[in-house]
Amino acid sequence: MNSILRIIDLSETLISRIMFTPAEIGSMKISNRFIRSATAEFAANPDGTIIPEYLDLYSNLALGEIGLIIQGHLYIMDEGKAHKKMAGIAHDYHLDGLKQIVDVVHNTQTESKIIAQINHGGIHSVSKKAPSILEGKEAQAMTENDIETVIKSFGKAALKAKQIGYDGVQIHAAHDYLLYEFLTKRFNHRNDSWGGSLEGRAHFLFSVYDEVRSKVGSTFPVLVKLNNSDEPKQGFSITEAVEIAKILAEKGLDAIEISGYRTVRTKFESEAYFSKNAQIIKESIGDMPLAVVGGNRSLNVIEKLRHEFADFISICRPFIREPDLVQRFREGKKQADCISCNKCFKAPVIISCLDKRDSSTLEKKEDGSV
Ligand SMILES: Cc1cc2nc3c(=O)[nH]c(=O)nc-3n(C[C@H](O)[C@H](O)[C@H](O)COP(=O)(O)O)c2cc1C
Ligand code: SF4
Repeated sequence: MNSILRIIDLSETLISRIMFTPAEIGSMKISNRFIRSATAEFAANPDGTIIPEYLDLYSNLALGEIGLIIQGHLYIMDEGKAHKKMAGIAHDYHLDGLKQIVDVVHNTQTESKIIAQINHGGIHSVSKKAPSILEGKEAQAMTENDIETVIKSFGKAALKAKQIGYDGVQIHAAHDYLLYEFLTKRFNHRNDSWGGSLEGRAHFLFSVYDEVRSKVGSTFPVLVKLNNSDEPKQGFSITEAVEIAKILAEKGLDAIEISGYRTVRTKFESEAYFSKNAQIIKESIGDMPLAVVGGNRSLNVIEKLRHEFADFISICRPFIREPDLVQRFREGKKQADCISCNKCFKAPVIISCLDKRDSSTLEKKEDGSV
Protein backbone atom coordinates (compact mmCIF):
# COMPACT_ATOMS: atom_id res chain seq x y z
CA MET A 1 0.00 0.00 0.00
CA ASN A 2 1.52 3.36 -0.92
CA SER A 3 1.76 6.02 1.79
CA ILE A 4 -1.15 8.19 0.56
CA LEU A 5 -3.46 5.21 0.56
CA ARG A 6 -2.24 4.27 4.01
CA ILE A 7 -3.06 7.78 5.33
CA ILE A 8 -6.58 7.56 3.87
CA ASP A 9 -6.97 4.13 5.34
CA LEU A 10 -5.83 5.31 8.78
CA SER A 11 -8.15 8.32 8.74
CA GLU A 12 -11.09 6.06 7.92
CA THR A 13 -10.17 3.80 10.82
CA LEU A 14 -10.12 6.88 13.03
CA ILE A 15 -13.63 7.89 11.83
CA SER A 16 -15.02 4.55 12.78
CA ARG A 17 -13.23 4.63 16.10
CA ILE A 18 -14.59 8.05 16.97
CA MET A 19 -18.20 7.55 15.93
CA PHE A 20 -18.66 3.82 16.13
CA THR A 21 -17.26 2.99 19.54
CA PRO A 22 -19.89 1.97 22.07
CA ALA A 23 -20.64 4.10 25.12
CA GLU A 24 -22.90 4.16 28.13
CA ILE A 25 -25.55 6.54 29.39
CA GLY A 26 -26.04 5.37 32.96
CA SER A 27 -26.96 1.71 32.75
CA MET A 28 -27.85 1.93 29.03
CA LYS A 29 -25.29 0.57 26.56
CA ILE A 30 -25.27 2.38 23.22
CA SER A 31 -23.54 0.82 20.23
CA ASN A 32 -22.36 4.04 18.56
CA ARG A 33 -22.34 7.80 19.08
CA PHE A 34 -25.33 8.74 16.92
CA ILE A 35 -28.56 9.89 18.56
CA ARG A 36 -31.80 10.53 16.74
CA SER A 37 -33.00 13.69 18.44
CA ALA A 38 -36.69 13.68 19.39
CA THR A 39 -38.85 14.30 16.33
CA ALA A 40 -42.62 14.74 16.64
CA GLU A 41 -44.36 12.41 14.22
CA PHE A 42 -47.48 14.59 13.74
CA ALA A 43 -49.58 11.47 13.19
CA ALA A 44 -51.37 10.45 16.39
CA ASN A 45 -55.12 9.97 16.65
CA PRO A 46 -57.12 12.76 18.36
CA ASP A 47 -56.97 10.80 21.65
CA GLY A 48 -53.14 10.64 21.50
CA THR A 49 -52.88 6.96 20.56
CA ILE A 50 -50.53 6.08 17.74
CA ILE A 51 -51.37 4.88 14.22
CA PRO A 52 -49.68 1.81 12.63
CA GLU A 53 -47.33 3.99 10.54
CA TYR A 54 -45.34 4.77 13.70
CA LEU A 55 -44.11 1.18 13.71
CA ASP A 56 -42.55 1.40 10.25
CA LEU A 57 -40.99 4.74 11.09
CA TYR A 58 -39.29 3.40 14.20
CA SER A 59 -38.42 0.07 12.67
CA ASN A 60 -36.59 1.87 9.85
CA LEU A 61 -34.65 4.05 12.29
CA ALA A 62 -33.59 1.00 14.28
CA LEU A 63 -32.69 -0.95 11.14
CA GLY A 64 -30.55 2.06 10.22
CA GLU A 65 -28.41 1.26 13.30
CA ILE A 66 -28.89 4.53 15.16
CA GLY A 67 -27.35 4.02 18.59
CA LEU A 68 -30.06 5.82 20.55
CA ILE A 69 -33.49 6.84 19.26
CA ILE A 70 -35.40 9.51 21.16
CA GLN A 71 -39.07 9.27 20.28
CA GLY A 72 -41.05 12.41 19.44
CA HIS A 73 -42.35 14.28 22.49
CA LEU A 74 -45.24 12.70 24.39
CA TYR A 75 -47.69 14.73 26.43
CA ILE A 76 -47.78 13.83 30.11
CA MET A 77 -51.29 15.17 30.75
CA ASP A 78 -54.13 16.28 28.48
CA GLU A 79 -53.73 19.95 29.29
CA GLY A 80 -50.05 19.79 28.24
CA LYS A 81 -50.69 18.58 24.68
CA ALA A 82 -48.58 20.88 22.51
CA HIS A 83 -50.21 20.43 19.11
CA LYS A 84 -52.67 18.37 17.09
CA LYS A 85 -51.60 14.81 16.23
CA MET A 86 -49.19 14.68 19.19
CA ALA A 87 -49.00 11.29 20.91
CA GLY A 88 -49.53 10.93 24.64
CA ILE A 89 -48.29 8.95 27.61
CA ALA A 90 -50.92 10.38 29.93
CA HIS A 91 -53.42 7.51 30.04
CA ASP A 92 -53.27 3.74 30.22
CA TYR A 93 -54.95 3.54 26.80
CA HIS A 94 -51.82 5.19 25.31
CA LEU A 95 -49.54 2.42 26.49
CA ASP A 96 -50.33 -0.49 24.13
CA GLY A 97 -49.27 1.47 21.06
CA LEU A 98 -46.17 2.86 22.73
CA LYS A 99 -45.15 -0.63 23.82
CA GLN A 100 -45.43 -1.78 20.20
CA ILE A 101 -42.96 0.94 19.20
CA VAL A 102 -40.53 -0.15 21.91
CA ASP A 103 -40.86 -3.79 20.84
CA VAL A 104 -40.36 -3.04 17.16
CA VAL A 105 -37.08 -1.26 17.97
CA HIS A 106 -35.84 -3.96 20.33
CA ASN A 107 -36.78 -6.73 17.88
CA THR A 108 -34.63 -5.40 15.02
CA GLN A 109 -31.52 -6.86 16.68
CA THR A 110 -29.40 -3.87 15.71
CA GLU A 111 -28.94 -2.99 19.41
CA SER A 112 -30.66 0.38 18.95
CA LYS A 113 -32.07 1.78 22.17
CA ILE A 114 -35.21 3.88 22.45
CA ILE A 115 -36.22 6.40 25.10
CA ALA A 116 -39.41 8.43 25.59
CA GLN A 117 -39.31 12.22 25.61
CA ILE A 118 -41.88 13.55 28.08
CA ASN A 119 -43.25 17.05 27.75
CA HIS A 120 -45.78 19.68 28.72
CA GLY A 121 -46.37 22.25 25.97
CA GLY A 122 -46.85 25.21 28.35
CA ILE A 123 -48.07 28.30 26.54
CA HIS A 124 -48.19 26.29 23.29
CA SER A 125 -50.51 23.70 24.80
CA VAL A 126 -54.28 23.55 24.66
CA SER A 127 -54.49 24.94 28.21
CA LYS A 128 -52.05 27.84 27.50
CA LYS A 129 -50.54 27.21 30.96
CA ALA A 130 -47.42 29.32 31.48
CA PRO A 131 -45.32 30.67 34.36
CA SER A 132 -46.84 34.16 33.99
CA ILE A 133 -49.35 36.22 32.07
CA LEU A 134 -47.50 37.72 29.11
CA GLU A 135 -48.22 40.89 27.20
CA GLY A 136 -49.70 40.19 23.79
CA LYS A 137 -49.88 36.43 24.41
CA GLU A 138 -52.76 34.26 25.48
CA ALA A 139 -51.46 32.62 28.67
CA GLN A 140 -52.80 31.15 31.92
CA ALA A 141 -50.44 31.84 34.83
CA MET A 142 -49.93 28.65 36.83
CA THR A 143 -51.00 28.34 40.45
CA GLU A 144 -49.00 26.41 43.08
CA ASN A 145 -51.57 23.65 42.67
CA ASP A 146 -51.05 23.53 38.89
CA ILE A 147 -47.30 23.30 39.41
CA GLU A 148 -47.60 20.41 41.88
CA THR A 149 -49.96 18.56 39.51
CA VAL A 150 -47.57 18.92 36.57
CA ILE A 151 -44.60 17.71 38.65
CA LYS A 152 -46.55 14.62 39.68
CA SER A 153 -47.66 14.01 36.08
CA PHE A 154 -44.05 14.01 34.87
CA GLY A 155 -43.25 11.39 37.50
CA LYS A 156 -46.22 9.20 36.53
CA ALA A 157 -45.35 9.43 32.81
CA ALA A 158 -41.72 8.45 33.47
CA LEU A 159 -42.82 5.45 35.50
CA LYS A 160 -45.18 4.34 32.70
CA ALA A 161 -42.31 4.64 30.22
CA LYS A 162 -40.17 2.40 32.40
CA GLN A 163 -42.95 -0.14 32.87
CA ILE A 164 -43.59 -0.59 29.15
CA GLY A 165 -39.93 -1.16 28.37
CA TYR A 166 -38.38 2.09 27.17
CA ASP A 167 -34.65 2.15 27.81
CA GLY A 168 -34.89 5.56 29.49
CA VAL A 169 -36.70 8.89 29.51
CA GLN A 170 -35.79 12.38 28.44
CA ILE A 171 -37.33 15.38 30.22
CA HIS A 172 -37.98 18.14 27.66
CA ALA A 173 -36.64 21.40 29.09
CA ALA A 174 -35.93 23.18 25.80
CA HIS A 175 -37.63 25.00 22.89
CA ASP A 176 -40.02 27.32 24.71
CA TYR A 177 -42.13 24.52 26.20
CA LEU A 178 -43.23 24.66 29.83
CA LEU A 179 -40.07 23.65 31.67
CA TYR A 180 -37.95 25.99 29.60
CA GLU A 181 -40.54 28.76 29.99
CA PHE A 182 -39.87 28.60 33.74
CA LEU A 183 -36.10 28.85 33.15
CA THR A 184 -36.15 31.95 30.96
CA LYS A 185 -37.02 35.47 32.03
CA ARG A 186 -38.74 35.89 28.65
CA PHE A 187 -41.62 33.84 30.07
CA ASN A 188 -41.07 33.72 33.81
CA HIS A 189 -41.96 36.97 35.56
CA ARG A 190 -42.94 35.38 38.86
CA ASN A 191 -41.68 36.68 42.17
CA ASP A 192 -42.52 33.64 44.28
CA SER A 193 -40.26 30.60 44.90
CA TRP A 194 -40.79 29.49 41.25
CA GLY A 195 -39.34 32.64 39.69
CA GLY A 196 -36.92 35.53 40.15
CA SER A 197 -33.35 34.33 40.67
CA LEU A 198 -31.94 31.41 38.68
CA GLU A 199 -32.55 29.25 41.74
CA GLY A 200 -36.24 30.21 41.63
CA ARG A 201 -36.61 29.75 37.89
CA ALA A 202 -34.88 26.34 38.05
CA HIS A 203 -36.96 25.16 41.02
CA PHE A 204 -39.57 23.63 38.67
CA LEU A 205 -37.10 21.69 36.49
CA PHE A 206 -35.23 20.39 39.54
CA SER A 207 -38.51 19.37 41.21
CA VAL A 208 -39.57 17.51 38.05
CA TYR A 209 -36.18 15.79 37.87
CA ASP A 210 -36.38 14.76 41.57
CA GLU A 211 -39.94 13.44 41.11
CA VAL A 212 -39.00 11.47 37.98
CA ARG A 213 -35.94 10.02 39.69
CA SER A 214 -37.94 9.03 42.75
CA LYS A 215 -40.41 7.16 40.52
CA VAL A 216 -37.97 5.35 38.19
CA GLY A 217 -35.17 4.61 40.66
CA SER A 218 -31.47 5.34 40.56
CA THR A 219 -30.47 3.01 37.72
CA PHE A 220 -33.06 3.87 35.06
CA PRO A 221 -31.51 6.35 32.56
CA VAL A 222 -32.91 9.87 32.83
CA LEU A 223 -31.82 12.56 30.35
CA VAL A 224 -32.68 16.24 29.96
CA LYS A 225 -32.86 18.31 26.76
CA LEU A 226 -31.87 21.89 27.55
CA ASN A 227 -31.41 25.11 25.58
CA ASN A 228 -27.85 26.41 25.71
CA SER A 229 -29.23 29.99 26.10
CA ASP A 230 -31.76 32.35 24.52
CA GLU A 231 -29.11 33.85 22.23
CA PRO A 232 -29.50 36.05 20.20
CA LYS A 233 -32.39 37.02 22.50
CA GLN A 234 -32.07 37.57 26.24
CA GLY A 235 -33.74 35.79 29.13
CA PHE A 236 -31.51 32.79 29.77
CA SER A 237 -27.73 32.98 29.45
CA ILE A 238 -25.04 30.44 28.72
CA THR A 239 -23.70 31.02 32.25
CA GLU A 240 -27.11 30.03 33.61
CA ALA A 241 -27.24 26.96 31.35
CA VAL A 242 -23.84 25.90 32.72
CA GLU A 243 -25.12 26.30 36.31
CA ILE A 244 -28.24 24.22 35.58
CA ALA A 245 -26.24 21.48 33.86
CA LYS A 246 -23.75 21.34 36.74
CA ILE A 247 -26.48 20.96 39.34
CA LEU A 248 -28.26 18.28 37.26
CA ALA A 249 -24.95 16.39 37.00
CA GLU A 250 -24.53 16.58 40.78
CA LYS A 251 -28.07 15.29 41.22
CA GLY A 252 -27.25 12.20 39.15
CA LEU A 253 -28.68 13.04 35.72
CA ASP A 254 -27.44 10.43 33.24
CA ALA A 255 -26.91 12.69 30.18
CA ILE A 256 -27.77 16.08 28.77
CA GLU A 257 -28.68 17.01 25.20
CA ILE A 258 -27.97 20.61 24.25
CA SER A 259 -30.26 22.49 21.91
CA GLY A 260 -31.20 26.17 21.72
CA TYR A 261 -33.32 29.05 20.57
CA ARG A 262 -34.88 28.59 17.10
CA THR A 263 -33.65 25.04 16.84
CA VAL A 264 -35.06 24.14 13.39
CA ARG A 265 -33.08 26.67 11.38
CA THR A 266 -33.46 26.73 7.61
CA LYS A 267 -30.36 28.82 7.05
CA PHE A 268 -27.24 28.76 9.14
CA GLU A 269 -23.81 30.28 8.70
CA SER A 270 -22.08 27.10 9.70
CA GLU A 271 -23.10 23.61 10.67
CA ALA A 272 -23.46 22.63 14.33
CA TYR A 273 -24.94 25.96 15.35
CA PHE A 274 -25.12 25.25 19.08
CA SER A 275 -21.69 23.68 19.36
CA LYS A 276 -19.79 26.66 20.80
CA ASN A 277 -22.01 26.92 23.87
CA ALA A 278 -22.41 23.14 24.11
CA GLN A 279 -18.63 22.89 24.47
CA ILE A 280 -18.65 25.49 27.26
CA ILE A 281 -21.28 23.40 29.07
CA LYS A 282 -19.34 20.17 28.56
CA GLU A 283 -16.27 21.71 30.16
CA SER A 284 -18.22 22.23 33.41
CA ILE A 285 -20.08 18.97 33.89
CA GLY A 286 -17.33 16.44 34.51
CA ASP A 287 -18.07 12.98 33.21
CA MET A 288 -21.78 13.40 32.52
CA PRO A 289 -22.26 12.53 28.83
CA LEU A 290 -23.35 15.38 26.55
CA ALA A 291 -25.00 15.31 23.14
CA VAL A 292 -25.29 18.32 20.86
CA VAL A 293 -28.03 18.86 18.28
CA GLY A 294 -28.63 21.47 15.58
CA GLY A 295 -27.42 21.45 11.99
CA ASN A 296 -25.04 18.50 12.16
CA ARG A 297 -24.83 17.42 8.52
CA SER A 298 -21.39 16.32 7.37
CA LEU A 299 -19.27 13.56 8.73
CA ASN A 300 -16.17 15.71 9.11
CA VAL A 301 -18.04 18.27 11.28
CA ILE A 302 -19.65 15.47 13.28
CA GLU A 303 -16.29 13.86 13.87
CA LYS A 304 -14.74 17.17 14.87
CA LEU A 305 -17.45 17.76 17.49
CA ARG A 306 -16.92 14.28 18.80
CA HIS A 307 -13.16 14.72 18.83
CA GLU A 308 -13.28 18.08 20.59
CA PHE A 309 -15.92 17.59 23.26
CA ALA A 310 -19.22 15.83 22.42
CA ASP A 311 -19.88 12.32 23.69
CA PHE A 312 -22.82 11.92 21.28
CA ILE A 313 -24.01 13.69 18.14
CA SER A 314 -27.75 14.26 17.84
CA ILE A 315 -29.45 14.57 14.49
CA CYS A 316 -33.10 15.16 13.60
CA ARG A 317 -34.04 16.21 10.04
CA PRO A 318 -31.38 14.19 8.18
CA PHE A 319 -32.83 11.01 9.71
CA ILE A 320 -36.27 11.95 8.36
CA ARG A 321 -34.79 11.94 4.87
CA GLU A 322 -32.33 9.09 5.39
CA PRO A 323 -33.23 6.78 8.29
CA ASP A 324 -30.22 4.68 7.28
CA LEU A 325 -27.78 7.62 7.38
CA VAL A 326 -25.59 6.00 10.04
CA GLN A 327 -25.02 2.98 7.83
CA ARG A 328 -24.37 5.27 4.86
CA PHE A 329 -21.76 7.21 6.87
CA ARG A 330 -20.14 3.95 7.85
CA GLU A 331 -20.01 2.92 4.20
CA GLY A 332 -18.27 6.16 3.17
CA LYS A 333 -20.96 8.80 2.65
CA LYS A 334 -19.64 12.19 3.69
CA GLN A 335 -22.68 14.48 3.85
CA ALA A 336 -26.37 14.07 4.73
CA ASP A 337 -28.80 14.81 1.89
CA CYS A 338 -31.16 16.91 4.03
CA ILE A 339 -31.25 20.55 2.91
CA SER A 340 -32.95 21.86 6.10
CA CYS A 341 -35.97 23.24 4.19
CA ASN A 342 -38.51 22.22 6.90
CA LYS A 343 -41.07 21.00 4.36
CA CYS A 344 -41.34 17.80 6.42
CA PHE A 345 -43.51 19.67 8.95
CA LYS A 346 -46.30 19.44 6.36
CA ALA A 347 -46.11 15.69 5.69
CA PRO A 348 -49.65 14.36 5.11
CA VAL A 349 -49.67 11.09 7.08
CA ILE A 350 -46.57 10.92 9.28
CA ILE A 351 -43.34 12.86 9.38
CA SER A 352 -41.46 12.26 6.12
CA CYS A 353 -39.22 14.14 3.69
CA LEU A 354 -41.21 16.18 1.18
CA ASP A 355 -38.28 17.58 -0.73
CA LYS A 356 -38.35 15.75 -4.01
CA ARG A 357 -35.22 17.31 -5.44
CA ASP A 358 -32.28 15.04 -6.02
CA SER A 359 -29.91 16.46 -3.45
CA SER A 360 -26.85 15.09 -5.24
CA THR A 361 -27.54 17.53 -8.11
CA LEU A 362 -28.13 20.55 -5.87
CA GLU A 363 -25.30 22.88 -5.17
CA LYS A 364 -25.19 23.25 -1.43
CA LYS A 365 -23.74 26.30 0.22
CA GLU A 366 -21.42 26.14 3.22
CA ASP A 367 -24.45 26.35 5.50
CA GLY A 368 -26.16 23.36 3.96
CA SER A 369 -28.93 25.45 2.34
CA VAL A 370 -29.53 25.46 -1.42
C1 LIG B 1 -40.46 17.76 12.32
C2 LIG B 1 -39.71 18.06 13.58
C3 LIG B 1 -40.23 17.64 14.79
C4 LIG B 1 -39.53 17.91 15.97
N1 LIG B 1 -40.02 17.45 17.15
C5 LIG B 1 -39.30 17.60 18.29
C6 LIG B 1 -39.73 17.00 19.50
O1 LIG B 1 -40.72 16.28 19.57
N2 LIG B 1 -38.96 17.23 20.61
C7 LIG B 1 -37.82 17.96 20.56
O2 LIG B 1 -37.16 18.11 21.59
N3 LIG B 1 -37.39 18.52 19.43
C8 LIG B 1 -38.08 18.35 18.28
N4 LIG B 1 -37.61 18.87 17.12
C9 LIG B 1 -36.32 19.55 17.12
C10 LIG B 1 -35.19 18.55 16.81
O3 LIG B 1 -35.08 17.55 17.80
C11 LIG B 1 -33.82 19.23 16.68
O4 LIG B 1 -33.52 19.81 17.93
C12 LIG B 1 -33.80 20.28 15.57
O5 LIG B 1 -34.49 19.82 14.43
C13 LIG B 1 -32.37 20.62 15.13
O6 LIG B 1 -31.69 19.48 14.67
P1 LIG B 1 -31.45 19.17 13.10
O7 LIG B 1 -30.74 20.35 12.51
O8 LIG B 1 -30.61 17.92 13.11
O9 LIG B 1 -32.78 18.99 12.49
C14 LIG B 1 -38.30 18.63 15.93
C15 LIG B 1 -37.79 19.04 14.70
C16 LIG B 1 -38.48 18.76 13.53
C17 LIG B 1 -37.89 19.18 12.21
S1 SF4 C 1 -38.28 18.06 3.97
FE1 SF4 C 1 -36.41 19.30 3.94
S2 SF4 C 1 -35.81 19.51 6.13
FE2 SF4 C 1 -37.32 17.86 5.99
S3 SF4 C 1 -36.06 16.01 5.81
FE3 SF4 C 1 -36.57 16.65 3.74
S4 SF4 C 1 -34.83 17.92 3.09
FE4 SF4 C 1 -34.72 17.72 5.33
